[in-house]
Formats: sequence, C-alpha cells, structure tokens
Amino acid sequence: MSTAQATQQRPDSSLSLSERLRTDTRQDHDSAESNSFAKALLAGTLPREGYTALAVQHYFIYTALEEVAQSLATHPVGGAVYFPELHRVPALERDLAFLCGPDWRDTITPLPSTRAYAERIRWTADWPGGFIAHHYTRYLGDLSGGQFIKRVVQQTYGFDDGAGIEFYVFDQLGSLPRFKKSYRAAVDALNLDEAEQQRIIEEAHVAYRFNTEMMNELSGFVPAS
Ligand code: HEM
Repeated sequence: MSTAQATQQRPDSSLSLSERLRTDTRQDHDSAESNSFAKALLAGTLPREGYTALAVQHYFIYTALEEVAQSLATHPVGGAVYFPELHRVPALERDLAFLCGPDWRDTITPLPSTRAYAERIRWTADWPGGFIAHHYTRYLGDLSGGQFIKRVVQQTYGFDDGAGIEFYVFDQLGSLPRFKKSYRAAVDALNLDEAEQQRIIEEAHVAYRFNTEMMNELSGFVPAS
C-alpha cells in the first residue's frame, strides 16, 4: 500500500480517539447548533411546551443510555465510560414531575425519531465501541454547551430554584473541566485499533444525525419568525 493510500485510510491517526471524536464531528456540531429548535432554545423564544417536549425526549434517550451503561459496567471497553455520577434519569424524573405534573409517566411518549434513536443506543449493548460514541456525544455535550443552555433556560422560564433544569446540573462531578479531562483520558486509554476507532467516529456522526432528526421533529414548537 502506498503512503498516500495509508494516509487516506488513516486520516487522523496521529490524534487520540477523543481528539478525533471532537475534530471529526465539528461540522455535525456546528449544524446541530444552528438547527432552528436549538436556536430558539438559546434565544429564549421557545415556549415552555417546547422545552418540556425536549425533556421528554431526553428521558427516553437517557433511559436507553443508562440501561446499556449498566449492562456494560464491567465490560473492558463499555465499562471505561461507566460513571454513574453522570446519570441523568433521576434528574429527568424530577424535572418531568415539575414540568408535566405528578402523572407525567402516563402522559409522555417518544417522537418517532427518539424511538429510533433509543433503539440504536440499545443496539450498542452488543457493540461497546458504538456505545462509547453515543455516550460521548450526549454526556460531553451536556457537560459543555449544556451548561450554557442551563443558564438560558433558567432565565427564559424563571426556573431559579433548580426545579426543571436538574438535567443540566452535575453536582456529583466536582470540576467539570477536570471531569471531562479524565473522561477523555479513559477513552484514550482503550487503545482501540484503527478500524474500530473509525467505526466509533462513524457512530458519533450517526448519534448527531439522530439528535438533528429529533430537533427537526420538535421544530413545530419554534415560533414562526
Ligand atoms: C443547542 C445548541 C448547542 C450549543 C450552544 C452547544 C455548545 C457547545 C460548546 C460551547 C461546547 C464546548 C466546545 C469546547 O469546549 O471546545 C460544546 C461541546 C460539545 N457539544 Fe455542544 N452545543 C449545542 C448542541 C449540541 C448537540 C445537539 C450535541 C449532540 C447531541 C452537542 C454535543 C457536544 C459535544 C459532544 C461536545 C464536546 C466536544 C469535545 O470537546 O469533545 N452539542 N457544545
């Protein structure tokens, strides 16, 4: 194989997996941020029902993520990102009780895109590398841009006492930058071969696509401009 072919097959192999995940999904991230639903959320123009609908979708997504996390907790690959202190389902349950009322469990259903997303996450129970792609895409996002979104949401809906935005509160982690550093180190310590790293990056693109589809389905809540 020529050097050019080798380079083509290994575009970024001098970078660690966590660095590749970040750089190779930059474009997906930019387009997610400019989605009309995300823009309305950030601009504070999304009605509260739209924010509630997002929390409902999160509930189904994180239930799948945290079920698979549990099933892979002792797996040498999947277990690398087993951080129960990250788990969001208990916080989402409290948020939904606040946002939808005590009977929230009887009132919520996933959108078709969310159902497909949760199915894809569950499918990775048999492919721990793929699970890492989904785990990274959601939790590192919540620990990064999510912290900014939290402040906007608090201001927009007046949720100043924590109820309704617990999803964005990670008070068991200590310093978030420090946690993110140790998370990336755990992913990089896996030393996965090139083919598996490429599959994982491809699955992170898939994760972004599911998030975009979900936001597109939620766009009915975006006020007409
Ligand atoms: C709603 C609009 C969004 C805003 C304003 C936003 C903002 C940000 C910001 C400021 C960072 C930190 C970048 C850095 O430290 O270099 C970040 C990182 C990240 N975001 Fe978002 N984001 C948004 C949506 C999303 C979505 C929809 C996803 C995917 C579900 C996502 C996933 C990520 C990930 C995985 C990272 C970590 C990248 C890394 O450092 O490896 N974000 N985001």
